[in-house]
Amino acid sequence: MENILSLCKRRGFIYPSSEIYGGIGGFYDYGPMGCELKRNIRDAWWQDVVHRRRDVVGMDGTIIMHPSVWKASGHVDGFSDPMVDCRESKMRYRADQLFFSPVVIGGKIIGYVSKLEDEGNGKRPDEMAEKIKNKHGLSGKIEPMKWQCYADAAEEIQRLIPSPATGNAGTLTPPRAFNLMFETHVGAVRDDASVAYLRPETAQGIFVNFKNILDTSRKKIPFGIAQIGRSFRNEITPRNFIFRSREFEQMELEYFISPHADWQKLHSEWVEERLQWHRSIGIRGELLGLAVHSAQKLAHYSRACTDITFRYPFGEQELEGIAARGDYDLSQHQSASGKSLEYFDEESGERCLAHVIEPSVGVDRIFLAVLCSAYEEDEVDGERRMVLHLHPRIAPIKAAILPLVKNKPEIVSLAEDIYRQLQRHWNVAYDASGAIGRRYRRMDEVGTPFAVTVDFESIENETVTVRERSSMEQIRLHRRELSAFLMEKISGI
Ligand code: GLY
Repeated sequence: MENILSLCKRRGFIYPSSEIYGGIGGFYDYGPMGCELKRNIRDAWWQDVVHRRRDVVGMDGTIIMHPSVWKASGHVDGFSDPMVDCRESKMRYRADQLFFSPVVIGGKIIGYVSKLEDEGNGKRPDEMAEKIKNKHGLSGKIEPMKWQCYADAAEEIQRLIPSPATGNAGTLTPPRAFNLMFETHVGAVRDDASVAYLRPETAQGIFVNFKNILDTSRKKIPFGIAQIGRSFRNEITPRNFIFRSREFEQMELEYFISPHADWQKLHSEWVEERLQWHRSIGIRGELLGLAVHSAQKLAHYSRACTDITFRYPFGEQELEGIAARGDYDLSQHQSASGKSLEYFDEESGERCLAHVIEPSVGVDRIFLAVLCSAYEEDEVDGERRMVLHLHPRIAPIKAAILPLVKNKPEIVSLAEDIYRQLQRHWNVAYDASGAIGRRYRRMDEVGTPFAVTVDFESIENETVTVRERSSMEQIRLHRRELSAFLMEKISGI
């Protein structure tokens, strides 16, 4: 993870937001390389989920919506995490990410220790346990820890659990619900009536437009509506870099199906389809997994949910959730708005509320999974090389045009001409400074899949060498063949 963080900063992928003021927790800015990579991930998703399917259309809704949307969707009352405060250190924790274990010697509980979810079985709990043992003047062997979630502890036990910040007991509060939606006010008057929310998911924009789109797009159930956009969650503990941030970007598809359809089968098909898609953009298959949510873990709107997981350096975590939301959202909005959101189901001859399967993924999480999949350090000509094996489709720069020397006008002029030719289609780079090996390395580090070198032979017959980043193999092509070659590699066309 440290290597990825350092690469992101050094090569202009990601910076902490407002860094010159010390940053702001849970917000990140994407730099020149990062914004290209992110845009390419978005474009690949849109192409595959919308353009390359007959049964999906897109939309682009507002971030601030009528506050009744969030009341009806259940977010005002239910979109919260259990928060625990440490009165001494003023640290805040999510109760479901805070764990405790009794310290047991000879079958007797002599105290409690705590740890946070992402710290593994670290040293601190062991140290805390030793301290408790010494305080009691005991010499026996401490039995293996049995970790439980703080949220599940009885209140009298919670008072005995030490804060992970200080190791002192009696300072943690009982968990209380903390709503994750950011509030703002619309209009000049700041009162209860003007409260509005920054959307915590893009999905609701789709549900409230379902009828508009059904009536105007000539689509029939089953069909999907896709949306890409920013969402906001006031996370109690933003962490793991861009994995859990407070402002992030979602790509959501609501796929509407008949209430009589076999939703379990359709749900499984979408899980498979999405898994395949992640592999297709270069996420390593061996790091991907599936996790089926238990009934207790389901979100308030879900009847089933399977996560596609990715093994990040900080652990296996959700990359994409594929939820079966039933008719929860349409029925909530229908009753709250008083407007019918039914459609006429030709098969049953009835008016029905559609059910929905929702593949929902964060662009930022894919971004991080892509970087973790692509990062490698190898050795070339006895020197350490850092390389990103990015799929050409999502690489920020598709090709670098490199004149072999910069003091031969014919070479420079041909290289510039080729640069302009390729620039019409893709983000390409022109680099004339430094030894050719160094220029290759600079491009390897940001994942540029092809380097086009214009050399002395080029001015004789207009051929160039094309070096492939990962294999480092070179071929010679006529400049006329370049666009078709790159098109095939980048878009598979
Ligand atoms: N729409 C599902 C989610 O935001 O997680």
